[in-house]
Order: sequence, then structure tokens, then C-alpha cells
Amino acid sequence: MANNSKIWKGNWTFILAAAGSAVGLGNIWKFPYMAGENGGGAFVIIYLACIVLIGFPVMMSEIFLGKYGRSSPVYTMKKFVSLKGISSYWVLLGWFGGLAGLMILSYYSVFAGISLAYIFSPIPADSMNPSQYSVDFFAQFQSSPMRMIFWHSLFLILTCIIVARGVVDGIGATIKVIMPTLFFLIILLSIYSSFTGEIEKAISFLFMPDFSKISSSVIISAMGQAFFTLSLGMGAIMAYGAYIPEEQNLTKTVSLIIFLDTFVAIIAGIIIFPIVFANPELTPTAGPSLFFETLPVAFYGIPFSFFASALFFILVSLAALSSSVSLIEPGTAWMEDRFKISRTYAVIILGSTAWLLGLGSLLSFNIIADFQIFSMSFLDFMDFLTNSIMLPLGGLFIALLVGWILEENFVKQEMKIKNEIYWKIWIYLTRYIAPILIGLVFIFALF
Ligand code: PHE
Repeated sequence: MANNSKIWKGNWTFILAAAGSAVGLGNIWKFPYMAGENGGGAFVIIYLACIVLIGFPVMMSEIFLGKYGRSSPVYTMKKFVSLKGISSYWVLLGWFGGLAGLMILSYYSVFAGISLAYIFSPIPADSMNPSQYSVDFFAQFQSSPMRMIFWHSLFLILTCIIVARGVVDGIGATIKVIMPTLFFLIILLSIYSSFTGEIEKAISFLFMPDFSKISSSVIISAMGQAFFTLSLGMGAIMAYGAYIPEEQNLTKTVSLIIFLDTFVAIIAGIIIFPIVFANPELTPTAGPSLFFETLPVAFYGIPFSFFASALFFILVSLAALSSSVSLIEPGTAWMEDRFKISRTYAVIILGSTAWLLGLGSLLSFNIIADFQIFSMSFLDFMDFLTNSIMLPLGGLFIALLVGWILEENFVKQEMKIKNEIYWKIWIYLTRYIAPILIGLVFIFALF
């Protein structure tokens, strides 16, 4: 079992670890391209609504479950089965989360690998047409499986090394340095991008909703993105919750994490879209390549551009690492407990599985580009299945467990919520709003 004596010291450790998990490629790479593909403002509004109405109660619930269980998600569920008499089927929730984490990690590491590669690939100073260069560079990059496999493998190996050494000790210190530096750098970049690019067009694209763009696929993508970006629905936050100090205020903690995460995503949009609209070679609907085509252009021509660009991609890769470790942590902790094997051994098994599965996503850029599952490429299918289905489904069950199955008084006491009005709002969100919204989105989008 997770070591109970290892409660993280100080309120900041949990916040940093959870923010480290939440802030990652989901904010910097995925949010802008999802917003771009789904029509901008309308997507952003639904995304923000999902963050507040679903993300907030589900994140509090996950932390509460982890804190009570003080163990990996599977064992936390087992504890609820034995101490609170809930059905033993709930243990499946832990399993299901571990599986979702592994599936996400498989393609996450492909893109994190690309960002590692980009540390060494700025646009050459003598380029005649930087945005065209950037688009061509990515096209060439993605057509080379061996190159992509190299970076995908390297990123997974780094992830596995950290997890094998123990996430708790492994990441806390690093995050303390990378998060503030990343914040500082993206704020600078967004200012630079606003001055040099088409900021008005970017702002109206991101914040002026065109409601005619709303469709069931926009809604389900926005909800999926809310879960993905906050690391919810698969047990990552629950696993970290196991280490939260007893007295830490959940509401404040969760509000801060959500604020930081949303802030980074919006800033990423403000970096990317002014550049996109200023360069005809770039299009908002480019999809997963948007970030990699646009960012090098942002660095082109600024003073010390090679250095700045390398620093930026190092920070992005580190932010991705602090998320990827949380994708594999729940599965690792479970294997360690279940099979009494070392973390290293557990992580090698899980890491290799993610690596193999990741090859499918990686090759869907090139060799198996025409292979389709439900008219989606392998990568799109994995992305859709995990983000739009598995995470919201995990979140739905978490909300149902906390809102309906567990005794209200027990939850209220453990959560240490004293203000009656706030408690009523909170339980109302958890019991009704979150599950009903998730349910409705599923019904409309899938049928
Ligand atoms: N939230 C992470 C990101 O935005 C990704 C993630 C999803 C991590 C689910 C853990 C669990 O990059």
C-alpha cells in the first residue's frame, strides 16, 4: 500500500504536484488546436462551463476519495468497499482509470516526444518564409517514423525513470522550478505575440462565440477537453490525493489548480492565434500540428531566438513530463501492491505497453495514415475514446459515488465544509449538475 507516513509536507506540495499533472500538453498544445478545430469562442465557452460545473466538483471528489483511501485508486476503492459497504464493482473504477491512463500516455508521449525534438529545431535565421518553413518542417518530421519513434521512446523512458524513483520524491522539486519559469515565459510570449500578430482577430476568434458553430461534436470535445486538461476521470488526481495533508482546504486548493490550468490554456491561445491569423500559411483548423507549426514562428526573429526557443520547448517537455508521470502512477502503484513487485518492474511493464500502443498513434501520421476505425485514424480514435468517452465516464461514476452512494454526512465531515450554503451548492453540483450534464452530452453526442 502507499506509504501512509508519506503525507506531503506543506500545502504547496500537493498543489504543485496536482498543478504539474494538470498543466501540460493539454493546455499548451491541445487546447488551442481543439478551439481552432471547433470554431473558437463557442467551444471555449462550453469548455469553461464544463470546467466550473463539472471539473470543480469532480476534482474535489477525486481528492476526497484519495485522501480517505490514502492508497492507489484501486486500493482506495477496496477500502471503501470494506469500510463503507459499497458494492465491490466500484473497484472497477480504479482499474478503468489505470487503463485510460495507459491509453492516454501512449499518444501523449508521441507529442511530448515531438516537443523534445523541437528543442533542437528552431527556424534557421536565414529562412525566407518562416511560416512556410515551419509547416514544411513538421510535414517532413511526421513522415519519418524512425525519427518519431526515437523521440517517443526517449520521452517514455524519462517518464518511467521518474516514476520508478517515486513520483512523490521525484517531481516535487522540479515542479517548483519549472512551473513559475513556464508561466513567466508564456506571459512574455503572449505579449510579444499580441504586438507582432493579429491580436484583435485572435481575441474575437477565442472569445466571441458564434453559436451557429455549436454541434454535438463541439460539445463532446469541449467536455472531453475539460476532463483531460484537469487530469480528471482516471484516478491521477485521486492517486495524488492520497498524499494530501489532512487539514488542507480542498476548496481553495482546487480553485487554485483550476485557475492556473485555465490561465495557461487561455494564454497559450493568446500566443498561438495572433500568429496564425498573421500568416496565411497557418490555419486555425490545422489540428494536432497547429502548435508545432506556429510556435517556431513566434520565436523567429526575436533576440536570442535559438536560446529562447530551446528554453521554451524544454519547459513544455518538462510540463509534459510532470503530467505523464501522473498518467502512469495509478497503474504503477496498483501493480506494486497487487503483485508485490518493485516499482521499477511495474513501470517497465506499463511503459512498454504504452510504448507499443503509442506506435499505432505514431504510425497513423505516416505508414498507416489510411487505416481507419469508425472513420477515424488510429490516433483520433484513441484520442476520442479516452478524452470524450473514458474520462467523462470515469468522472460520472466518481460524482455518482460521492453524490449518491456515500453517506452525505460522512462526505461533509471528511470534506470539512462548514458553511451550510456552500455545502448545499457543492452537493447539488456533485449530485445533480455534473452527472446530468455528462449524461446529456453523452446522449446527444452519441445517439
Ligand atoms: N492534464 C494533462 C495535460 O493537460 C494530461 C492528463 C490527462 C494527465 C489525464 C493526467 C490525466 O497535459
